Amino acid sequence: MRIPIVAGNWKMNKTIAEARDLVNALRDDLTRLAADGRVQIVLCPPFIALPEVAAQVQGTPIKVGAQNLFWEAKGAFTGEIAPTMLTGWCDYVIIGHSERRQYFGETDEGVNKKTKAALAHRLTPIVCVGENLAQNEAGETAAVVRAQVRAACAGLAREDARRIVIAYEPVWAIGTGRAASGAGANAVIGETIRGTLAALYDAETAQAIRVQYGGSVTPKNVAEFFAQPEIDGALVGGASLVAADFAAICRAAVR
Ligand code: 13P
Repeated sequence: MRIPIVAGNWKMNKTIAEARDLVNALRDDLTRLAADGRVQIVLCPPFIALPEVAAQVQGTPIKVGAQNLFWEAKGAFTGEIAPTMLTGWCDYVIIGHSERRQYFGETDEGVNKKTKAALAHRLTPIVCVGENLAQNEAGETAAVVRAQVRAACAGLAREDARRIVIAYEPVWAIGTGRAASGAGANAVIGETIRGTLAALYDAETAQAIRVQYGGSVTPKNVAEFFAQPEIDGALVGGASLVAADFAAICRAAVR
């Protein structure tokens, strides 16, 4: 059985002090929810707040994730963060978020390199895929998502592929208040994402890989996503910045 994973992507929000306050407001609730292993909860603060958040959740089942990494081990890459700088502070890392693809020139090839670098350093990559509005309206969703999944997994052995998490985040649903429908997201995840994984590997591997939905998830709509058989949790943006909302979303995962 796949364990749902609910991750809060704080994006470029929260100073170190604000991160501390948010974790303080969440920690007891999330600890209770994650205690029996029915849901994995991951907080993904900005890099600079990672050590603080990691210290705050130490000894709890709450996990920490980064929002990006660079694939090289070290060297002259001004402004970048190497995988070895993350290990010890986090267990997860978001890779290929649409905002990185859109604003920072992230390519499918880079996503593949980052995914491999994360795996090589025992970090669980949360690989983001999803079509934009124009692609959606042109009926290109399956082709776009299939290509992104194939590119992310290029050269990944079956055992490594099983360790990744995929987040289906349609770009038009991110931060817009216009979430996908549960059935719509379920269809893309089941048919396109798991279908592609089955073609690349095998049906059993495709079933084993956890696939989240992300895009305007709120306490109000989350039950619709968690009721879907192909959806294994949520990647939450805006609602993860509000303690009561994120706790409510995590609570829905264990219902
Ligand atoms: P919102 O939940 O704010 O739409 O953001 C989703 C997202 O991009 C999570 O990575």
